[in-house]
Amino acid sequence: MDTQVAIIGSGPAGLLLSQLLSLHGIRSVILERQTRAYVEDRIRAGVLEQGTVNLLREAGVADRLDREGLTHDGFEIAFKGEHHRIDLRGLTGGKVVTVYGQTEVTRDLIAARVAQDDNIVFEAGDVSLHDLESDRPSVRYLKDGVPQELRCDFVAGCDGFHGVSRRSIPSSVLKTYEQVYPFGWLGILADTPPVSDELIYASHDAGFALFSMRSIARTRCYIQCSVEEKLEDWPDDRIWAELRSRLSPEHAAALVTGPSIEKSIAPLRSFVAEPLRFGRLFLAGDAAHIVPPTGAKGLNLAASDIHYLSRALTAFYGGGSTALIESYSRTCLRRIWKSERFSWWMTTLLHHFPDDPPFKRKMQEAELDYVVHSEAAMTALAENYVGLPY
Ligand code: APR
Ligand code: PHB
Repeated sequence: MDTQVAIIGSGPAGLLLSQLLSLHGIRSVILERQTRAYVEDRIRAGVLEQGTVNLLREAGVADRLDREGLTHDGFEIAFKGEHHRIDLRGLTGGKVVTVYGQTEVTRDLIAARVAQDDNIVFEAGDVSLHDLESDRPSVRYLKDGVPQELRCDFVAGCDGFHGVSRRSIPSSVLKTYEQVYPFGWLGILADTPPVSDELIYASHDAGFALFSMRSIARTRCYIQCSVEEKLEDWPDDRIWAELRSRLSPEHAAALVTGPSIEKSIAPLRSFVAEPLRFGRLFLAGDAAHIVPPTGAKGLNLAASDIHYLSRALTAFYGGGSTALIESYSRTCLRRIWKSERFSWWMTTLLHHFPDDPPFKRKMQEAELDYVVHSEAAMTALAENYVGLPY
């Protein structure tokens, strides 16, 4: 089989790239290891920057997002029993975020891809990349146990942190930077109304908690936990009790609990690989970088990579220009490192670090107090939260 762009992975990054390329008449094939049901049911974060919303509109997949997405003008930071509002719209000259689950973004993108080009190969096994430094790379894989080869002009590695693409770059070329945090997030999804109209990021002596939502009837919350915790030890009642204890009395009284639909424990990590291009292979999304979820930058960063990559490929096929291909890695990394810094900073500000001396906790408290009372600090927070410009 032949195509122009072979895309590895049908997460938001791979799907969005394929959709944008298709609008410009550029052919692609997506190779995905999992089944469609598995990809569509994965529960992920749910806060979209305006740039991400704009890109989904450009891709023609925003009808449901525009109908069902919730516009959020601000969020709250809670600590020491008080809560403080960060007025995103007021502090950024009118910018906001949209709450719409990544699960829904993925479903909308898959529906569009299947209807328009039907170019996703699900359950593609043993994917391997070849001849990446030539101008005709190929991707080998197994479909129903039968070896297949896909020849292409470019390979887009959109296969997440554990994918094959990043590992296909020689270690003499690839440099990685990593920080693992000494805690994880225990998440719960439930069909109960959110505790507040806006998200609440709570810093508590027992640890961080986040009160988020998927809709006005569906709550998504997280508590900081040890990475050794087992889900079996966390019946719903225990999670709700822990969540309630990390809220201000006013919000605690308003918390509505109910049976969980999903529960999970995820470790927190910051990670960046450089460079993002090796010959004709590009890395994008989680294949290239991971952020801790505090600040909700993961999906948004994947979208901005795809903004740059789709433009680079469109320019190439439109007139043979390789300038944007050459600058892809450099351009993306500038924005990636700023999002890494912001996610690391929010994580450091709001979590309890078990091995920190009391002095560090005092520094955190002072910084929290400063951030919520200084217009300058709140503006910097808001500017990053709504998303830095592309
Ligand atoms: N071959 C084929 N597909 C693979 C392989 C492989 N060897 N390895 C992984 N995949 C698939 C995964 O099954 C997954 O569907 O690649 C896809 C990667 O999707 P995501 O993990 O969603 O990554 P990405 O599209 O970059 O989206 C980034 O999603 O993971 C969140 O926090 C992340 O919000 C961020 C966003
Ligand atoms: C979520 O709703 O899942 C969510 C929201 C904000 C975050 C992280 C996750 O910072």
